Amino acid sequence: MSAPATAAPGAPVVELDLAELRHDPYPAYATLRRSAPLAWVPSVGRHLLTRYDDIVQAEKLPEVFSSREEGSLLLRTVGPNLLREDDPAHRRLRAAAEPPTRPRQVRDLWAGAFEKTAHELLDRIAGRGEADLIADFAEPLAAANLALVLGLRNATADDIADWSRAMMAGNSNYADDPDIWLRAEQATRAIEEAVADTAEAVRHEPNGSVISSMVHAAEPVELTEIQNNVKVIIGGGVNEPRDVFGVGAWALLRRPDVRDRVLADPALWKRVFEESARWISPIGMYPRQLTQDYEIAGVTLPAGSRVALVIASGNRDESVFERADEFDIDRPHRPHLAFGGGPHFCMGAWIARHEVSALAWPLVFNRLKGLRLVEGAEDRLEGWVFRGLTSLHVTWQAA
Ligand code: HEM
Repeated sequence: MSAPATAAPGAPVVELDLAELRHDPYPAYATLRRSAPLAWVPSVGRHLLTRYDDIVQAEKLPEVFSSREEGSLLLRTVGPNLLREDDPAHRRLRAAAEPPTRPRQVRDLWAGAFEKTAHELLDRIAGRGEADLIADFAEPLAAANLALVLGLRNATADDIADWSRAMMAGNSNYADDPDIWLRAEQATRAIEEAVADTAEAVRHEPNGSVISSMVHAAEPVELTEIQNNVKVIIGGGVNEPRDVFGVGAWALLRRPDVRDRVLADPALWKRVFEESARWISPIGMYPRQLTQDYEIAGVTLPAGSRVALVIASGNRDESVFERADEFDIDRPHRPHLAFGGGPHFCMGAWIARHEVSALAWPLVFNRLKGLRLVEGAEDRLEGWVFRGLTSLHVTWQAA
């Protein structure tokens, strides 16, 4: 499969400025959905597919829309891994890694420890009366929970958070910045060492962790495969729960009427989660490459064409979600695309749902009395490949 780094014949070419996309991609996506739902965007080096129905169609055809994108940034950062494989290779790796992330395992193995960590982090800040909930709470919580689920006992939550930032920067290094590559390489080496140590330990003493599950898989998984999969999981397991936490908390702090309803009826936290993930999707887009000629959104893409499935745009598609730009927990249920679809549907979905909607939000809003946003704080939403709040400054009545 060759990879033409050019527009498919007949595909509209749309110039988009990466800085503007980082600042706020949604106006550009709305224009693309209206007038060029499949467009070649030179600055991204891919065709952007932006309508909900087209993205769903692509996800239903993984044999046409391959995850094995040539020269992908993720492959360069991490090496071959489950996210950039197609079945059957993908199925073997996924089957090996997935069992500890299923709903029952989340409830039985991880929920208690997740809750304890959330309380400990809140204990540290409760007396202060002010904090940045991203840096002081959501990120260390997601990192500690991930270390636990992976089984990486020889790495601290700070290590995981640092490595995750370095992986994410590599995966979205569309500008090819050499400093970013250097940091990503240092992080990948550190992860490889930590995984090799852990894999050796669980080989003799299995536990319920993801690394143990891969080491003892029915179909064998090589150490390098385990290391690369752990890199992907670290790259994707910290910032997304952190960002969905930030967006949902921010939305409720700006809408006290909705916050009060949710506090009175905790069953609504689930809706806050799904709506937050739809409204500002932590992962905005991901790549696919065509294995054969295929017509979609009125354009015939030749085999080898590069496509980005822009799920952040599909999640704002007005033909599916009325008043799609609004945060509305009462909107009629339509499945959002924030966790992807098809064989690569997010492996951490149940972990994220539990740690954020069952634990983090209820604990924060119930423990920090009178929680409100700090006026004038420069909390910004940023990013388009990954999007979230840079910070979330809040204040409350310290106990
Ligand atoms: C709100 C939180 C999260 C969101 C929105 C999210 C989103 C996604 C998306 C969109 C994909 C599909 C990417 C593609 O098809 O190319 C994905 C895959 C994946 N996610 Fe998540 N993720 C979240 C949390 C997590 C967590 C906490 C973990 C780790 C425990 C995790 C691990 C993975 C893995 C391993 C894959 C690859 C699955 C495969 O290739 O079979 N994610 N995620």
